[in-house]
Amino acid sequence: MRILRILHALQSVVGHRTEDTFPERAQPVEFVEGEGDSPRAVFVQRTGIARKILEDPIFEQMRFLDDYLALCDPQQTGWIRYFMDHNPEFLNGEAHRNQSRLLRPELARCVRRMDAVPPGEVVALVDEVLASEGPSTFAIARKVTAHLFGCCLQEVSGTGVTVDEEVLFGVDIFLPFPRPAHLHRCHERVEAYLAAVRRIREPGPAELLLLLTLLMMGTAPTVAAVNWAANRWLRHATLGASPGAPEPEVDFSLAPTSFVMRRCTQDTVVESHPFRRGDVVYLFLGEASGCPLHRLNSLPFGAGRHTCSGQPLSRRMLELAHAGFRGARGDWSRVQASGVVPGRSSAFVKFEGTA
Ligand code: HEM
Repeated sequence: MRILRILHALQSVVGHRTEDTFPERAQPVEFVEGEGDSPRAVFVQRTGIARKILEDPIFEQMRFLDDYLALCDPQQTGWIRYFMDHNPEFLNGEAHRNQSRLLRPELARCVRRMDAVPPGEVVALVDEVLASEGPSTFAIARKVTAHLFGCCLQEVSGTGVTVDEEVLFGVDIFLPFPRPAHLHRCHERVEAYLAAVRRIREPGPAELLLLLTLLMMGTAPTVAAVNWAANRWLRHATLGASPGAPEPEVDFSLAPTSFVMRRCTQDTVVESHPFRRGDVVYLFLGEASGCPLHRLNSLPFGAGRHTCSGQPLSRRMLELAHAGFRGARGDWSRVQASGVVPGRSSAFVKFEGTA
């Protein structure tokens, strides 16, 4: 019953998002009381309050998947457990600092790899989709994102192993209430890719961590950001074709990650809202405030200690995607715009696959 109320509260925001708006919410903060031993769930619907919480050490990262992993076969979820034990996203304090330090040079390697991608390579990919049967912005976004992540994975793994699109786009562990079968499938996809890599070369600990990070938390927000950019270029190339209309620019204000979670470690008050020790807090990263500049208030990369460390990499990827859209010579008029799939409770925005 309580899970249904939490799902309903999440979906009433996430499920009604469009690509660049959040639904209007009257309450800045909403509470769902726990039943028995279960903690209270709190939904923070103002980004100003969310920022304060993300910057406050009283609110800790939490391993939100633990209860669901307890229902799964450990062998069939090994990579998810490994990821949660090693990725800074799930860690606090010293462990968080150590793993962030480990990841940083590997992420910088990926940024350098992106610097070496000729924009013409991306232009050719966009033109290939534009010339295909029934092109859509979803197909363009997947093609471009798969290519750029493929380059990063090959760089970090030190192998030429190619990655299946099912692995790249079919691994989403950031669901508030995942089914065991879904977690097993995510593990199997990661395992299939890593087994192919390890047959050629054993990645070091930092390399392994980044390979998992690219697959488990890099592709999902990036492909959404690229899809959003493709939609804007489609409008520019077709509707907004008035001479001199400014070209779309790299812009992350969409917030492809709809929410993040924290646990409150001691009773406290934030902007007059009382939080209790043990509260599980869902923080939305965008809001409809009625202000025309509301997008400037969104927190696409989070805030505080856990601010996204992949930000420079995703910015470089988006720059390449824009170069591809700008340089494409194909016909945009046949392209179908893909909108956000309604009703999903994943932390990541998903676009409709119309192709
Ligand atoms: C448009 C693309 C991206 C968006 C919008 C995005 C968004 C976010 C957000 C909101 C967080 C904060 C999570 C929290 O507070 O719990 C985060 C954390 C993180 N992201 Fe990203 N992300 C993107 C791409 C990437 C990429 C490409 C990578 C690396 C491959 C990456 C790696 C990470 C890591 C490691 C963290 C955890 C940082 C920490 O806890 O210190 N992200 N991301």
